[in-house]
Amino acid sequence: MGKPIRLPGLIDIHVHFRDPGQTDKEDFYTGTSAALAGGVTTVFDMPNNLVPIFTLKTLLEKMKIAEKKAVCDYGFYFGTDGKNITEFEKVKGLVIGLKVYLTLTTGKYLLDNGQKLEEVFESWPKEKVIVVHGEGDKIDLAINLAKKYKNKVHITHVSKKNDLQVIIEGKKTNSNITCDVTPHHLFLSKEQISAKNTSGVARRVYPERSRRDSPDGGGTANGFYEVKPPLASRVDQDFLWEHLKDIDAIATDHAPHTIEEKKSNTPPSGMPGVETTLPLLFTAVKDGRLTMKDLIRLTNTNPQMIFGFRQNKNTCVEIDPDEKYTIENENLKTKCSWSPFARREVYGRVQKVFIRGEKVFEKGKILAKPGLGRNILSPKSGGV
Ligand code: NCD
Ligand code: ZN
Repeated sequence: MGKPIRLPGLIDIHVHFRDPGQTDKEDFYTGTSAALAGGVTTVFDMPNNLVPIFTLKTLLEKMKIAEKKAVCDYGFYFGTDGKNITEFEKVKGLVIGLKVYLTLTTGKYLLDNGQKLEEVFESWPKEKVIVVHGEGDKIDLAINLAKKYKNKVHITHVSKKNDLQVIIEGKKTNSNITCDVTPHHLFLSKEQISAKNTSGVARRVYPERSRRDSPDGGGTANGFYEVKPPLASRVDQDFLWEHLKDIDAIATDHAPHTIEEKKSNTPPSGMPGVETTLPLLFTAVKDGRLTMKDLIRLTNTNPQMIFGFRQNKNTCVEIDPDEKYTIENENLKTKCSWSPFARREVYGRVQKVFIRGEKVFEKGKILAKPGLGRNILSPKSGGV
């Protein structure tokens, strides 16, 4: 083992921990455990639970669950269908931002009523971020609304060249626009997962692995790569890498679904990621595709700036820079037990994680007691 490298704990501003409602896929303990195993010390959880977080009541229920189970720090987004605007005042001190779905995804919480959307942007407190899931022309819409109502708007999981170009233009005249990309859009492309079989019909296969090694142990593998936004082309992927300087954060969109669901004929979209991002990024540093400075900017300092909080300086992670290892489904802490990056060889295995100076993870073991993680908005979080 080489001399460990210490870096600030990663802040993942986009995860779906499914608790309450779908704890067969993930819960707050397994999700935050997976986070620690991936060197992530703070997660921001999305509101598209089975019963969406559209009211103070549902938010408080979720907060109670996290308070008992979390082993890393966390924050919550509020959600909206445009009919819960009166709740905004009640929850604004309890959430780090609002999530708005302008493009359809898991949970079907689409906000496509123009009038309601205007009201949402108008009413949401200006000091708090609106995170937008939008693709194509929905990005123009979000940028225009941000300008009109003076909101802080963060566009999440940008995957396409054209979309990033529009955002780069928008950012030129509005410093309140930020964006992130996911590790799966950086490290996977649609070309990579489609291959011609002997009959010449395009079909999807796992990259870098045989059928035997697929997350389901063999069988049809297609559904595992279904995700919103879909994996994009090589050209899109290259554009993201070439424009990292215009990107503000890397967020995983950790969206666990069970192996059974992903193997089915109607696989839900989404893939896990919170546990594998740091080694993937560190391997990119080793390969000269990313600087260490950018890795920290995209996963730590910028998330703090965008959301206006400070991470405790003793919240950090130690990685082994030299040992090569293989990502294995069997070793994952996420309840869904699979990764789109299984069988990949990486560097940067997480050795130790500290939260506020306390060792919470070492050599594959969670040392933190459930409940050690704090809501970053709680005065006790010790970050500021
Ligand atoms: C996410 C999920 O499963 O909750 N799915 C996805 O494909 N990204 C929802 C989302 O972030 O859009
Ligand atoms: Zn998401």
